[in-house]
Amino acid sequence: MNIENAIKKAVKILKNENIKSPKLDSEILMSNVIKKDRYFTILNSKKIINKKNLYKFNELISQRSTGKPIAHLIGKKDFWNFEFQIDKDVLIPRPDTELLIEEVLKIYKHKNKLQVLDIGIGSGCILLSILREKKDFTGVGIDISGKCIDISKINAKKIGVTNRIRFFKSDVDNFNYGKYDLIISNPPYINSLDMKCLERDVVNFEPNIALNGGLDGLTNVRKVIFKSSELIKVGGRLIVEIGFDQKQKVIELFKKEGFYINKVLKDYGNNDRCIIGTKL
Ligand SMILES: C[S@@+](CC[C@H](N)C(=O)[O-])C[C@H]1O[C@@H](n2cnc3c(N)ncnc32)[C@H](O)[C@@H]1O
Repeated sequence: MNIENAIKKAVKILKNENIKSPKLDSEILMSNVIKKDRYFTILNSKKIINKKNLYKFNELISQRSTGKPIAHLIGKKDFWNFEFQIDKDVLIPRPDTELLIEEVLKIYKHKNKLQVLDIGIGSGCILLSILREKKDFTGVGIDISGKCIDISKINAKKIGVTNRIRFFKSDVDNFNYGKYDLIISNPPYINSLDMKCLERDVVNFEPNIALNGGLDGLTNVRKVIFKSSELIKVGGRLIVEIGFDQKQKVIELFKKEGFYINKVLKDYGNNDRCIIGTKL
């Protein structure tokens, strides 16, 4: 069978299972199997694929049809300018989170030395991207999940920032190391009831601990802001990613812990996505 026909067959299967982007997904999975990029796959659609690769491809399509995310099937996800290793134990980096990196680079355009803390580092996508862009920044990444710390370490090596970062497996509540110029966090912020309404790809495959923010969605957000007020230097900044309907409550939490609100950042869908504050 040639690439084109294998993909056509796969698209039909994925469409039947209501997968949102069946053609793109099939092309990505085919490219992964034949170890070429997507352009090669598209431009060489008449090429015959061997039996072994066809079997592998069909197997991946069958898994994708259950909702298993592409990032889990190929073990990686592009974020900012880099490729991050991903597995079922870490949140798949989201494009909206790139806005946070963009903002940090804007704020600290002329700043060299900075000590940065990432609370809930996950795959490492936020802190590692910042460290790679700003060669004199140093960082600390913490996560309650040891598996996230392991993946972050692998990604730090891939991205080439291991000598400027330290990792701690810790609950934010128990973390008391260092003082920081900048603290960033994308904590779990979905309320327990809404968890059931998430898309199948997310709720069935991504870690609950990375998503579930408790009854009002703010359990971890509160912890992050409270702990940050202790660990941040006066004049230091705190940037927290939030849910689309949490702005007002989170602004109050920032103020309560002695932060001045600099900005509320909107995402690509025009939802309130990050609160940025300065410790007074
Ligand atoms: C929404 S994910 C964000 C991951 C990554 N920073 C990103 O933006 O893709 C939240 C992360 O917080 C971690 N986490 C959850 N509760 C925590 C806690 N109490 N203390 C420290 N980390 C926690 C989870 O394991 C998860 O990796």
